[in-house]
Amino acid sequence: MNVKTFLTLEWEDWILEKEISQAVIRRMPRYYRYLGELLEEGVERISSNDLSNRMKVTASQIRQDLNNFGGFGQQGYGYNVQFLYDEIGKILGLNETHNIIVIGAGNLGQAITNYVKFEKFGFIITALFDVNPDLKGQKVRDIPIYMMDQLEDYCKKHQVDIAALTLPKEKADETAKHLVELGIHAIWNFAHVDLDLMDSQVVVENVHLSDSLMQLSYNIVKNSK
Ligand code: NAI
Repeated sequence: MNVKTFLTLEWEDWILEKEISQAVIRRMPRYYRYLGELLEEGVERISSNDLSNRMKVTASQIRQDLNNFGGFGQQGYGYNVQFLYDEIGKILGLNETHNIIVIGAGNLGQAITNYVKFEKFGFIITALFDVNPDLKGQKVRDIPIYMMDQLEDYCKKHQVDIAALTLPKEKADETAKHLVELGIHAIWNFAHVDLDLMDSQVVVENVHLSDSLMQLSYNIVKNSK
């Protein structure tokens, strides 16, 4: 094993062992987005102060957040934008591709599938599934819609990393359990229900636009007082 491999392994082990707060992890995509924009503008290096002005968070918050992962900055030189972008990408698992299947090919399922830019971050939607026979054989952006009775066979033949649940909430729990039985360990849940999954190996990310709207509504009320 050469030194570089050894160091990389050590670093990855360290990251895996270190418990990083979800609050920090939730801020990482925003860093990644801003750094991506800086790269597009041709910026090679940025100080935490400049990054702080751009992102409207304090420089000390940035340093504190990045220190969770070993820092990445050099005193007086700031951050190497490409390096930081790549490292945060690795932390977020974006250096690998993730195949997604969408369960429920209705309005939301099709809208998500139509958003091509997820692919830029390595999220590839490979198939949709539904129970509505009218959708059988149809495609969304060249991506096939299959019937639910084809799901098991599909999962046996293809690598599936994430299942997006965009089906009625009454069906979400049983479908999620079935997906876990088929070996899927990550669920991107849009159905408005807390999934009751006993398997602690399964990771679930709930996305509720209405929660965000309610937060906005709260802030509108607060600002008007
Ligand atoms: P929709 O009615 O257009 O689509 C639902 C699709 O699921 C239909 O094509 C239907 O045939 C299919 N379906 C029904 N039972 C199924 C099953 N057992 N297996 C596979 N597919 C099945 O509804 P829409 O507007 O796309 O919403 C889908 C879900 O997403 C709903 O639960 C809705 O409440 C939720 N939603 C969540 C949002 C969020 O921010 N989390 C925003 C909008 C909708």
